[in-house]
Amino acid sequence: MVKLTDKEFLEFVKYMHNNYGIDLSKKRILIEGRLSNIIKKKGMTSFGQYLDRVKSNKDDEIITLVNKLTTNYTYFYREENHFQYLKEVVLPEEEKENTSRSLNIWSAGCSSGEEPYTIAMVLDDYFKLKKWKINIKATDISENVLSKAKEAIYSEESIKRLPDRFKQRYFKKVGNGYEVTEEIKKYVNFNVFNLMDPILEKNKYHLIFLRNVMIYFNNETKLEIVNKIYEAIKPGGYLFIGHAETIQRNKSKFHYIKPAIYKKK
Ligand SMILES: C[S@@+](CC[C@H](N)C(=O)[O-])C[C@H]1O[C@@H](n2cnc3c(N)ncnc32)[C@H](O)[C@@H]1O
Repeated sequence: MVKLTDKEFLEFVKYMHNNYGIDLSKKRILIEGRLSNIIKKKGMTSFGQYLDRVKSNKDDEIITLVNKLTTNYTYFYREENHFQYLKEVVLPEEEKENTSRSLNIWSAGCSSGEEPYTIAMVLDDYFKLKKWKINIKATDISENVLSKAKEAIYSEESIKRLPDRFKQRYFKKVGNGYEVTEEIKKYVNFNVFNLMDPILEKNKYHLIFLRNVMIYFNNETKLEIVNKIYEAIKPGGYLFIGHAETIQRNKSKFHYIKPAIYKKK
């Protein structure tokens, strides 16, 4: 195992925090454990050398690094009560009030695609043949997970919580896995986006899913991101976060609706 010195550890923590908002200050063992092998494989002998390489060759090396240090864990229909709330409250509200009959949705930190495809299935199932224009943007910092998302082939384990009719209607069996149908794929566009970067689009969102991403950020970074997201949502729009996450209520303009659901009034 390559030894991580105190100085290298502090440098790592600072670099990842300043550039990616990822808080690794309590993750010394994780850094040492997950990166030692990579460092050896690349023929290097210290974390210092590796960090220099990351800094000088930002795009490729940093992606490997972030992939190793963040977890991409996700599955279809995760935190089911969000999808119940969509069906029972949000979509009926939109049907009444949204005269453009179009919905702009962002799944930020979408990992390998299970979240945005679940959203697409819930919406497709709700609207059925009514012609609504639905656009789901799905982003992640990791190209690795996004290529998996575009491939859209999943294991039985990953789809097992979905209602049976969704499994039957929205997947086709391929080899050992299940591929999302073209009908669902066409709702979703995948792109790389680092949540630390400014949000430049003028077009605002009806719904934003920012679930199980903020676990990597410290309070200050979390608040910065939540404030940016607030500006990106239309008045009346909703923000969904992970049930294990919180937004400091007195510091953000979002209105708390129920656990892990917020609204811009
Ligand atoms: C645990 S997954 C969450 C997936 C899905 N949202 C869910 O709740 O199941 C977290 C994802 O956040 C991504 N992520 C971490 N830091 C990020 C950043 N600064 N910008 C964008 N995505 C980031 C990771 O690559 C990972 O795929």
